[in-house]
Amino acid sequence: MSSNHSGVLYPLRKSAAGSADRNKGPILSVVGPLLDDLYGSRPLSRKNLRILELASGEGRQVAHIASKLPTYDFHPSEADEASCAQIDDVVASTTPPLANVQKAKLLRIEEPDDWRIATRQRPVDAVFAFNLVHIAPWEVTQCLFEMVANPEVLADDGIAALYGAWNERGQFTSDGNREFDAVLKGRDARFGLRDVDSELVPLAKKHGFLLTQRTEMPAGNLFLVFRKQQLP
Ligand SMILES: C[S@@+](CC[C@H](N)C(=O)[O-])C[C@H]1O[C@@H](n2cnc3c(N)ncnc32)[C@H](O)[C@@H]1O
Repeated sequence: MSSNHSGVLYPLRKSAAGSADRNKGPILSVVGPLLDDLYGSRPLSRKNLRILELASGEGRQVAHIASKLPTYDFHPSEADEASCAQIDDVVASTTPPLANVQKAKLLRIEEPDDWRIATRQRPVDAVFAFNLVHIAPWEVTQCLFEMVANPEVLADDGIAALYGAWNERGQFTSDGNREFDAVLKGRDARFGLRDVDSELVPLAKKHGFLLTQRTEMPAGNLFLVFRKQQLP
């Protein structure tokens, strides 16, 4: 891993638990087929999937998704120890018990060492980040792609899946998203909706990723999948 961006650490913001609960069903409906496709494309020797979730919040989404996809192995993470403990509590209180969710890891996206520790057993097959990019300085997304480009972090045929609110072709896609952007910028001028076409896709391309899926989600959100392009 090539650089340390600890200079861009910033005050963290939580989303309301209600938002995670509203989003988890629609997100599962996209994640299920996505992981099944990834699994199906794998040779027999690599038939288990490890999914690293960044910025897991309280862990409600990962608990829900993992409960419905018991054959895949989920690794939640958060930017501070208290949040990791909270994720572990949510996972532990899920019934029936979840055998396929690992203990939450401390992972600050700007810290290469955190990634190294989180992925030291072997590279993961997918990295998820839901409701993060618009609630963080742009440098955080730059660090994210820089890290997942490393084959020791994300396998060569792996995917990075981002869910949230975005602009497209330089425009807000709804009045709701315009208002949301203003609220975010009011909280922190470095936050706000990013543009898929002029910001996200070029950044991903610079790090060897292509946008392979764009799915419209409820409430003006998008689910975007970037796949790592294998070198010839
Ligand atoms: C709006 S919440 C989203 C939580 C969850 N993914 C969801 O969709 O409900 C944003 C999360 O990003 C985490 N976060 C913010 N900056 C981060 C960073 N630099 N590294 C890792 N996590 C970060 C925060 O701690 C917070 O839990």
